[in-house]
Amino acid sequence: MNEMVSNTEKLLHVMTFGCQMNEHDSERIAGVMGLEGYTCTGDVEKADLIIVNTCSVRDKAEHKFYSELGRLRKYKKAKPDLLIGVAGCIAQQEGEKIIRRAPYVDLVFGTSNILNLPAMVKRRVEHHVRVTEVDFDREYNMLDLPADRGDGLKAWVSIMYGCDNFCSYCVVPFTRGREMSRPSASIHEEISRLAADGYKEVTLLGQNVNSYGKGLEEGVDFPALLRLIHDIDGIERIRFVTSHPKDLSDRLIEAMAELPKLCEGLHLPMQSGSDGVLSRMRRGYTFAEYYDKVKRMRQAVPDLYLTSDIIVGFPGETDEDFRATVRALEMAEFDSIFLFQYSPRPDTQAGTLPEQLADDVKAERFNIVMDLQQKMTLKKNSFRVGMVQEIMVEGASKKGSELMNGRNRGGAIVNFEGECRRGELVNVLITEGLGYCLKGKIT
Ligand code: 5AD
Ligand code: SF4
Repeated sequence: MNEMVSNTEKLLHVMTFGCQMNEHDSERIAGVMGLEGYTCTGDVEKADLIIVNTCSVRDKAEHKFYSELGRLRKYKKAKPDLLIGVAGCIAQQEGEKIIRRAPYVDLVFGTSNILNLPAMVKRRVEHHVRVTEVDFDREYNMLDLPADRGDGLKAWVSIMYGCDNFCSYCVVPFTRGREMSRPSASIHEEISRLAADGYKEVTLLGQNVNSYGKGLEEGVDFPALLRLIHDIDGIERIRFVTSHPKDLSDRLIEAMAELPKLCEGLHLPMQSGSDGVLSRMRRGYTFAEYYDKVKRMRQAVPDLYLTSDIIVGFPGETDEDFRATVRALEMAEFDSIFLFQYSPRPDTQAGTLPEQLADDVKAERFNIVMDLQQKMTLKKNSFRVGMVQEIMVEGASKKGSELMNGRNRGGAIVNFEGECRRGELVNVLITEGLGYCLKGKIT
């Protein structure tokens, strides 16, 4: 995001918590306010408008938000004209309660109200009222929202919003609303514009990309959308998150095998290896079904980078259930995972289950899985020593470092030696496989 400042410009500072979906929403907040003459600043003290874009997927994120909000109060005291807005999933859920708890907050707006932000700011300034807008906009998928991306090379593009799955632990259907796909022509147009601006990689975003197209009348499903995007000149790499295992189709496996621009990385949240827990999570698959899809995907796509989300300590998870998860992790051989301790969330079915586990049990299981996965990641990375991989160069690995840095097609970070420029695709011989990245040199 641009940091240039002039006297007449207003400055916006956006703080982002949570997932990629939220990071992209922050780019949209910057894009929408950019059209109103606001420029982004990394310096919170200089800002005229601070937006805190919140996450409520786990209670830790929620605690972090309230303590961060408390810290913002002093800026308001120092600069009474400063406006503070709260966006994102906590805003969607809590609405006006946030203003009651923190009366120095000026605006609260939900996950589908970003385009209205300029009007909300105007109302706040002209009518001296605090503004809350958290009604779901049913036409949100039809809106063309500008985004201030700043990166120049890699871009997130939303292809759908919301979620209809109602997994029993998950707050997202309540904070992001019903699933809505964006028309394919609008996605195609946005990515074509990105390609014309020099972007080379897109990551398609949605809570459940495999069910893309549901509810639209155009008859384009996710594999068909991938083929449409694949034809856009200039885009060299296509990624997507997140896939729901129950909706992962054979046609997607075929598309992964066939389309050269489609990267060999798949994030496929397993959540648990116990069929009993999976069923109480309402996931819609057994471990055997999950594993069968993984095996077929690996047959079709050699050296697939497979990542996953795992929750330990779901209500009622027994030692036997937990052992099933450990066995499943050993079989699935993920390249890396996002690991979470279950945390009860408002409105969710699992939040009210009586058999909530003690914190120390969750923590112990978390540590066991963490340990196991670290060894697995190291093992998988050391298999890759001696391979030549295609890396998209992002820049120096650290400020002032001679080592360059980029990502392989699987999405893993690679630090390497050799002459190259940002944006180039180079072949790198992998010389070392570490726990968190690979090392190599240009061949
Ligand atoms: N507790 C712990 N982890 C959760 N996730 C979602 N809801 C919860 C919860 N209540 C995790 C899931 C999901 C990821 C984004 O966050 O693993 O895939
Ligand atoms: Fe993203 Fe879910 Fe957090 Fe909302 S609650 S920001 S959708 S991870």
